[in-house]
Amino acid sequence: MSLMEKHAIFEKNSIVLLLGIVIMIAIGGLVEVVPLFYLKSTIEKVEGMRPYTPLELAGRNIYIREGCYNCHSQMIRPMRDEIERYGHFSLAAESMYDHPFQWGSKRNGPDLARVGNKYSDKWHVEHMINPRAVVPDSIMPGYPFLAKTELDTRHLADVVKTNALVGVPYTEDQIANVAVDVAAQKNPDDKNVDAFLKRYPKSVARDFSGQPGKLTELDAVVAYLQVLGTLVDFSLYDDKANLR
Ligand code: HEC
Repeated sequence: MSLMEKHAIFEKNSIVLLLGIVIMIAIGGLVEVVPLFYLKSTIEKVEGMRPYTPLELAGRNIYIREGCYNCHSQMIRPMRDEIERYGHFSLAAESMYDHPFQWGSKRNGPDLARVGNKYSDKWHVEHMINPRAVVPDSIMPGYPFLAKTELDTRHLADVVKTNALVGVPYTEDQIANVAVDVAAQKNPDDKNVDAFLKRYPKSVARDFSGQPGKLTELDAVVAYLQVLGTLVDFSLYDDKANLR
């Protein structure tokens, strides 16, 4: 029997063909998966990443609830046009505490991976309430209700705990102080601000939505937007993401 004829065994018998397919896919899968168990880390080590503060995490949840990801990606690809427009390409480590990550591929609007500190809080507040107020040709919908809706913090401690459960390294101290830290991040005069800043290095405590004494969903969203892409200091890295 020639080789071509042996092939007929597969072609004439559907069960044998099915087994053959399963074996081939299993080999292909193993080739891709097994090396991951032996590589020390598939995520490069970077300086500066920390878990989100409770307020930023609340903002992230609203970002997901409102479907912002349907128009915005958070993944700068290592291509010249993207790097010139948005900054250093995204590193895996930058989204290692994101469950689920917000990479996306849909870009009706710009990538937001490095939008933190690009604009003032006031710009974001106006933009979220009515994008046309600051970008006349914008097609982004307004989210004015965020400024009027009080932030529901009842489940935030559970959200932080759940993130810890899936591997985000929240400390006992951080988990125990969720309510304290939310209040402290919104109010720079709060008596717990110093303790909060110690728990979350590189964070800021301020009135994000410009509504003193009123903690709204807009505070959370602006706090979240303002931290995006600001944790890793890219002056430490060369253009291939190696430490200088
Ligand atoms: C229908 C698509 C769409 C949705 C949904 C959407 N956006 Fe946008 N977004 C845009 C477009 C288009 C722009 C560019 C014009 C502008 O700045 O308004 C933009 C711009 C932005 C910018 C400024 C980015 C920059 O670098 O200039 C931010 C921040 C932003 N969006 C946040 C959000 C957030 C937060 C949400 C969810 C609450 C959201 N967007 C939902 C389309 C969208």
